[in-house]
Amino acid sequence: MPIEAVNRIAVVGSGAMGSQIAAVCALAGYPVRIQDISEESLSKARKVLTEQLEKRVEKGKWTREQVDGAWSRMTFTTDLEEAVRDADFVIEAIIEKVDAKRELFARLDELAPAHAVLATNSSTIVSSKIAGATRRPSQVCNMHFFNPALVMELVEVVMNPDTSEDTAQTTMELARRIGKTPILLRKEISGFVANRLLMALFREALHLYEQGIADFRDIDLAATKALNHPMGPFTLMDFTGLDVNYYVMQQQYAETGDPNLKPPKILQEKFEKGEYGRKTGKGFYAYS
Ligand SMILES: NC(=O)c1ccc[n+]([C@@H]2O[C@H](COP(=O)([O-])OP(=O)(O)OC[C@H]3O[C@@H](n4cnc5c(N)ncnc54)[C@H](O)[C@@H]3O)[C@@H](O)[C@H]2O)c1
Repeated sequence: MPIEAVNRIAVVGSGAMGSQIAAVCALAGYPVRIQDISEESLSKARKVLTEQLEKRVEKGKWTREQVDGAWSRMTFTTDLEEAVRDADFVIEAIIEKVDAKRELFARLDELAPAHAVLATNSSTIVSSKIAGATRRPSQVCNMHFFNPALVMELVEVVMNPDTSEDTAQTTMELARRIGKTPILLRKEISGFVANRLLMALFREALHLYEQGIADFRDIDLAATKALNHPMGPFTLMDFTGLDVNYYVMQQQYAETGDPNLKPPKILQEKFEKGEYGRKTGKGFYAYS
């Protein structure tokens, strides 16, 4: 399908990611239907988006006309059929459970037009685990946005072994048309590219600290003052949650069996003590 044939977008799941992805598409001029199984989630999405978009108007990032225009193009519903029956491109952003996603994709396959691309925003589930639930695996791929989707520019487009070149290129072009910078992964790999780079940095930082080479504060300084990173790795791990980072490393280790990918001991200790970072008041740093 050429990008010119993408006129209507449906976003399924109106949580933290789905609501912002929908707004990004609507701001770019696309009519968007947003579907969720929960009325409560839909009203929360409306409320949170109103606050977020108003803030951006106040800051001068978007004009009142742009934001009003986006609202006029967004509709919210719990009815999946209504949401996708005339959609050319569907972006799924529901709960991170493979069974729920497979069930949804089987229904999308029945309800969405035959030409429509079905993309998943999943952070960890590669689309080959979902595509088989449809009769159109060549039109299924990952389209991975970063949080917050209204702000973060990168989108990772990941092909499964059945994804067609046409689907990949249409998805890449759609990402560009909604103001994002897409990158293409021609093969599936867990963690995709950006999060794998980040985990490699975290792992090396943890090893340097664990071996007594340098204090964690100084390793953070090396990252900010020499590499120009906005935050050092220990600050960032505390910010995203040491529990989350522990789980991600544990999963990479379980998938590959590679001992180099095992979560470093110091991270495991922090995890076991419940020192998860900012959210618990203590991680590598202490927070008041
Ligand atoms: N939060 C992040 O930082 C982030 C970043 C990138 C990608 N993702 C991915 O985006 C997806 C959504 O994450 P989130 O953080 O927005 O989650 P969330 O919990 O904020 O929202 C999920 C929404 O999906 C709805 N839902 C659940 N089952 C559904 C179904 N069968 N049909 C329709 N709606 C359904 C829920 O009611 C909820 O509103 C996940 O796959 C996640 O891996 C998350």
